[in-house]
Amino acid sequence: MPVPSPVTVRVPAKVNLHLGVGPRRPDGYHDLQTVFQALSIYDEVTAYPAPGLTVMVKGQDADEVPVDSTNLALRAAALLAERTGVDAAARIGIRKEIPVAGGMAGGSADAAAALVACDALWGTGLSRAQLAELAAELGSDVPFCLQGGCALGTGRGQVLTPVLARGSFHWVVAIAATGLSTPEVYAEIDRRRGPGAEATPPDEVLAALRLGDAKRLGAALHNDLEPAAIGLRPALRATLDAGRELGALGAMVSGSGPTCVFLARSHAAAIRIAAALTAEAVCKTTRVAEGPVPGPRVG
Ligand code: C5P
Repeated sequence: MPVPSPVTVRVPAKVNLHLGVGPRRPDGYHDLQTVFQALSIYDEVTAYPAPGLTVMVKGQDADEVPVDSTNLALRAAALLAERTGVDAAARIGIRKEIPVAGGMAGGSADAAAALVACDALWGTGLSRAQLAELAAELGSDVPFCLQGGCALGTGRGQVLTPVLARGSFHWVVAIAATGLSTPEVYAEIDRRRGPGAEATPPDEVLAALRLGDAKRLGAALHNDLEPAAIGLRPALRATLDAGRELGALGAMVSGSGPTCVFLARSHAAAIRIAAALTAEAVCKTTRVAEGPVPGPRVG
């Protein structure tokens, strides 16, 4: 038998243009009404033929990513092997650019990419719909990470509906020095407003996307988790204010944070805002990105 070639998959980060958090459910998750967009910041996941199943992480803040059985990419590969009955035999190499514990679904993106890469390496040939079922078992954001583009997420975020979206948007991403724990941010929102509060509806963001209107989208950006993230990390307020003063069309915490995102009028404006945020030292580092972009691709 010839040894199969390694398979590399590039997978984008996500931002929630709208994150409406509803009541806490009996299973501990919260009902969401969220609008996802995939952004052009990519992790690269390679599945190499190897005996056994291991993971290796390189790149930005790689030392903060677990390489034991809690690694979500490793769990994704193990789940695919279990369900298809193949040997779980691969070395998963991850090159990180998506901020770790940053609210941009880095771990979920790696899991989605691992599903695609191992499916190709092992020749298991699952359809995207079959991979999406596995994705939903792995985490709330994994199905969107498998899909990319722009979508409305309901349920705990894993039920996806297409969104009519026009245009491409320019983003500045401000990355913090240390991450925030997603469960802790959700626990904080429950403490602040009680577990039964309703989700803010996404109508304004959906209207802005239909029109492709960046100014309207900037004004509509909304995240119910933002007060909880700022409560746990008060310095985020200064980061958001700095971006607004620099002329961003909109500013918000991404997902459960602490990454902050700013919508800019143009690529040039995004570069100017990113440079100024770095100079003001209101975050560890900045990136400029575009969205929406397609989901994980082999090669
Ligand atoms: O689904 P995932 O494992 O990514 O979720 C991580 C954590 O985020 C959950 O354990 C839960 O605390 C919180 N969460 C939530 N409601 C959601 C999604 C995530 O409470 N819809």
